[in-house]
Amino acid sequence: MTAGSSPPERKQTTTQALQEMKARRQPITCLTAYDYPTAAALDRSGIDILLVGDSLGMVVLGYENTLPVTMDEMLHHCRAVARGARYALLVGDMPFLSYQISVPEAVRNAGRFIQEAGMHAVKLEGGRERLPAVQAILDVGIPVMGHLGLTPQSVHQMGGFRMQAKTAVAAKRLLSDALALEQAGCFSLVLESIPSRLAELVTSRLHIPTIGIGAGPGCDGQVLVTHDLLGLFERFTPRFAKKYVDLHAAMTGAFEAFRSDVTAGTFPEAEHSADMPDDEWQAFLSSMEP
Ligand code: KIV
Repeated sequence: MTAGSSPPERKQTTTQALQEMKARRQPITCLTAYDYPTAAALDRSGIDILLVGDSLGMVVLGYENTLPVTMDEMLHHCRAVARGARYALLVGDMPFLSYQISVPEAVRNAGRFIQEAGMHAVKLEGGRERLPAVQAILDVGIPVMGHLGLTPQSVHQMGGFRMQAKTAVAAKRLLSDALALEQAGCFSLVLESIPSRLAELVTSRLHIPTIGIGAGPGCDGQVLVTHDLLGLFERFTPRFAKKYVDLHAAMTGAFEAFRSDVTAGTFPEAEHSADMPDDEWQAFLSSMEP
């Protein structure tokens, strides 16, 4: 930018823009968002993709895992995020059983994210077994992001939240799934908790961008659960997450300070209070006299 010139106008991030970023080897940033103020801050920070992840079941709603999350809960949070963001690509995460039961149900539910909640795209978990649903959603014009590796909606089948694709057979299956999802028309893939060198190889074989979480530096982009980054989820922080700030501690400190101010009578002070004009007050008192 030369002196006196204005900064380049920021454009809405599109799925096409993400492909171009991959081609230019420009890293893609993605963070989860579940509410209006966080979406506004993420958008202002220039984050490319806001994912309304079903992780909200754990980090916002306090469930044990993502399985209880409903369509209504997802849509409620998606609407708040859509009100806060202007530029980022908004991706709504399809919750458990919203796309696995039948293809028409998958299309109907994917459509609700776009029509009722302001999302630009949806994400769903799984490989080749999900191709009919992925294909049908794409056929009605809704961009789909895939999700391979650790797929939290299969937590019980996987025996816990553990790294996936550690054997040659599983790695080969994951690569075939990734190629099949690309072939079907997915615009991007999340690769969660898989070996770094596998993520790097998959990334090099695909034309669409990979977004890694616990998958090393070889992906085209990185995603984190925002509550892990902010230190807001006190139950645990995954090993692969980087905590940039401890907001849980900061919040607890602020709440304790408020409690102590109120119990000591030091809040509110004059600057936090307002009064009415004397004449109005006198008129009010007179009006109360019998
Ligand atoms: O639900 C979620 O937040 C996700 C990300 C961890 C990729 O699926």
